[in-house]
Amino acid sequence: MNEKQAPKPISTSFTRLLDCPYPIIAGPMFLVSDEELVIAVSEAGGLGAMPSLNWRTPERFREAVRAVKARTRKPFAVNLIVNQANPRQHADLAICAEEKVPLVITSLGNPKEAIRRMHEAGGKVFCDVTTLDYARKVEALGADGVIAVSAGAGGHAGPISPLVLIPYLKRHLRIPIIAAGGVATGEQIAALLLLGAAGVQVGTRFIATEEAKVDPAYKDAILRSEPEDIVMTLRISGTPAAVIRTPYIERVGLDLNPIEKLLYRFPQTKKAMKMLRYHLGSRALEKAAHQTTWKEVWSAGQGVGLIDDLRPAGDLVRSLMRECRDTLSHGY
Ligand SMILES: Cc1cc2nc3c(=O)[nH]c(=O)nc-3n(C[C@H](O)[C@H](O)[C@H](O)COP(=O)(O)O)c2cc1C
Repeated sequence: MNEKQAPKPISTSFTRLLDCPYPIIAGPMFLVSDEELVIAVSEAGGLGAMPSLNWRTPERFREAVRAVKARTRKPFAVNLIVNQANPRQHADLAICAEEKVPLVITSLGNPKEAIRRMHEAGGKVFCDVTTLDYARKVEALGADGVIAVSAGAGGHAGPISPLVLIPYLKRHLRIPIIAAGGVATGEQIAALLLLGAAGVQVGTRFIATEEAKVDPAYKDAILRSEPEDIVMTLRISGTPAAVIRTPYIERVGLDLNPIEKLLYRFPQTKKAMKMLRYHLGSRALEKAAHQTTWKEVWSAGQGVGLIDDLRPAGDLVRSLMRECRDTLSHGY
């Protein structure tokens, strides 16, 4: 089968809402997803997504959005962190509205303002959720869809198995549900569509692509690692985040140090500690993502166990969709 040949579209409530042929988002990844990956995925018929914080200033972020719009007419997405710890959220949201970004994906915090502003601008908003309670809140605020982040995901994984989370949310929500966490094959995508998802958001699998802008050692670690190698650490942002267990991670441990723990207990020091931890964690991630260092802090989810080749992102989108279609039509 020719990797460049596009499989037939797969129509769901997500593809109809965003006007794209395939129900797959390449999840926004801090330090990994930039213009090249977004363009490759959207051009192939999925939806490329990038976090606004991958650019150091709002101005640089606006240039990146314009660069994407100049090279593809297909829909794409931007991820905004909408909690108080992100001082850029209002500036970056204004840029998304002014540049008419087709889809904003919010994570953490309250998405109310993002939903209002993007709807005025004619855009759509999906919100990351890990529980029904929060999913209900964002639906009531007018979100167009949810990204259901389950156990096993890269980044900040949720606590609930996708086998339960998707049908559980489906019972209670009317808006489209996008399944995120551990997805690396077309068979899994078919299974999630059958469970009630309107699409999938795939992160870790897209690190092993030619376009992902990270050090080859990081990509190699994705190819070599197994699900058993993924551990949750508090040392990146203060909330559990999935990383590959490297000798460095083993040495520094997964928990906060005793002084940090103490300072987290008091409201007067908690916010400052959170910001410090986030700053230190981001710096460690950034170093490990972009250069060879013994301080290997590599973010990834359990899907590493199903990833054994590095390919162009467009070919990956097409082969995942072909596998998904074949599974749906032939069964198992
Ligand atoms: C390296 C890495 C960085 C991530 N950065 C972000 C981010 O900045 N914002 C966000 O909403 N999600 C982020 N995520 C989560 C992904 O968008 C996606 O939801 C998740 O990776 C899905 O799980 P999977 O990795 O098992 O496919 C990140 C994930 C990874 C692996």
